[in-house]
Amino acid sequence: MTPAELSHADLRLEVGGGVATITLDRPGVRNAQRPRMWAGLARILDELDESVRVVVLRGAGGTFSAGLDLSLLDPAQPDEEGNFVATLALDDRAIIDQIDVFQRPFAMLADPRFITVAVVEGHAIGAGFQLALCCDLRIATDDARFCMKEPALGLVPDLVGTKPLVAAVGYARALEICATARTVAGTEAGEIGLAQVVVPAAELDAALAATVHALTAHPHGAVSATKALLQAAPARSLDDQRLAERTAQVARFRDLAAAFAPAAGE
Ligand code: CAA
Repeated sequence: MTPAELSHADLRLEVGGGVATITLDRPGVRNAQRPRMWAGLARILDELDESVRVVVLRGAGGTFSAGLDLSLLDPAQPDEEGNFVATLALDDRAIIDQIDVFQRPFAMLADPRFITVAVVEGHAIGAGFQLALCCDLRIATDDARFCMKEPALGLVPDLVGTKPLVAAVGYARALEICATARTVAGTEAGEIGLAQVVVPAAELDAALAATVHALTAHPHGAVSATKALLQAAPARSLDDQRLAERTAQVARFRDLAAAFAPAAGE
């Protein structure tokens, strides 16, 4: 994407050393999300070089994201991209298809090509919480604030967050967090498995650097194949998972053998 396209999507992108860092860049409105940001995110993820093995997602200005740009729900404030209230004129199928497009970048974060890490400081509300949930790992400050606000607004979480939330904390805790729309602080997020690393704000960048270093220390092919195995494990029978392990291992053997084979003529 060109710098102008990134700026239009309210995103910043830095790529280097196998790591892509994507920053939600609307600090004036606490990185509130709108469709152009989602479309930009999808394009970035689509276009990432094969050498990228870790994707870091964070927010500008000391907060992750305050969720959906609420002006999109306000019929009195038409946005240039169209107001969500106007969407109600469409038939059900068209609305479902529209949400499918919005969900795409959230789902793309599960791609086994890379490990995705959300860096959560400040607020992760609604679509912000869901975006963080769609990442493989969450590094949070102890005073971060996660909130699934949708039910309080009469809505459901529909940006791919429900499945990873249940996977992270279990059904009962997930339901309690969503139904009450309460705020989960960073410290509690660590205790219940919502965040994998929790640190004071002053230590956030060091914790991120250490995590990224550890995630990039081992062979890329082995790490991404392992991510694919773990992702699929809950939906497979034991026998199917064993078969998937064996199959993935053969591919690993072949890759390693090719890497260590003497060059022709040696
Ligand atoms: N959309 C649009 N603008 C937002 C916004 C949002 N989600 N969140 C914050 N802003 C704007 C504020 O209107 C304010 O603008 P002005 O400076 O022009 O007044 C600016 O950002 C700063 O906000 P605050 O002064 O409120 O900042 P704060 O640090 O005191 O509070 C906050 C931060 C707790 C995130 C608070 O802004 C807030 O509660 N925001 C709304 C959160 C929300 O309800 N999000 C929607 C969740 S539902 C969802 O995302 C999914 C869905 O499908 C509906």
